[in-house]
Amino acid sequence: MNHICYIIAMQAEAQPFIQEFQMEEVTGFFSPYPFRLYQGEVDGSRLSVVLLGQQHGTDLVGCEAASITAMAAIQGLAPDLIVNSGTCGAFKADGAAIAEVYVGNAVMFHDRRVPGDDEWGTQALGNYPLWSGSAKLAEALGLRMGKVTTGSSLDLQPVDEEIIRQHGGQLKDMEAAAIAFVCSLTGVPLLLVKSVTDLCDGGEKTYDEFRRNLSAASHALRDANLSIVRYLSRSKLICRTSRS
Ligand code: ADE
Repeated sequence: MNHICYIIAMQAEAQPFIQEFQMEEVTGFFSPYPFRLYQGEVDGSRLSVVLLGQQHGTDLVGCEAASITAMAAIQGLAPDLIVNSGTCGAFKADGAAIAEVYVGNAVMFHDRRVPGDDEWGTQALGNYPLWSGSAKLAEALGLRMGKVTTGSSLDLQPVDEEIIRQHGGQLKDMEAAAIAFVCSLTGVPLLLVKSVTDLCDGGEKTYDEFRRNLSAASHALRDANLSIVRYLSRSKLICRTSRS
C-alpha cells in the first residue's frame, strides 16, 4: 500500500482537508516535539498529515520547524511520498490569482546569500529535486506549475525579489525548500502543492492580504488535494524505486 505523507505548516491550511477525509489524530506520536499527526486511509492508500505544531501560542512556520518535522516524519512513518501543501505568495506580473493552486516544478531558497565560489552559491540556493511525476500529475489535474522559492520572512525585501526574479521564482513560501533539503538527503520524493494567499507585487500589506485570503486558499488546497490523493492512489504511481 502506498503511504502518502502531507507536511503542512498551519492547522488552518490543513483543517478542510483533515475534515474532508475524516482523519483521526494520533496523539503523542512525535512527543516531545509539537508536531501533530493525523491518519486515515483513502482509496487504498495510507494517508498521514503531519503539522508543524505550535510554540508561543501560534502555529510554527518556517524552515527550522519544517526541516525537523520532515526528518521526524520520514524516520517515524517511512512514507513513499511527501507532499508539502500550503499557502504562498505569488506575482500579479505572472498572472497569478488569489486561491489559485499550483504544483511545484522546482524549489530553491531565495534568502541565503553566500558569497564565494559557485559551489557555496549552489549549496546556499539549494535547487533540490522534486518528485519526477509532478508534471504528469499537474497536467492530468489541470493545475499550473511554478518554481517555489523559500525564505524565512513573510515580507518581500528588494534583495529577495532580485534573487527570485533572477532565478525565475513564481511562488514564495517559508517551508518548501527546507523540506526538500531533507528529502534530498533521504531520497524520499517530494511533491509541492501551493495555494496563493497574496500577491507580492499587488501593493497591499502582505500580512493583511494573507489573513484575508487564508480560508479561501485553504479550501482551494483541500479541493486540489482531494484530486491529488485520488490520482496518486488510483494510478499507483509512487513506489520506492521511482524516487525523485
Ligand atoms: N505564505 C503565504 N504568503 C507568503 C508570502 N508572501 N511569503 C512567504 N510565505 C507565504
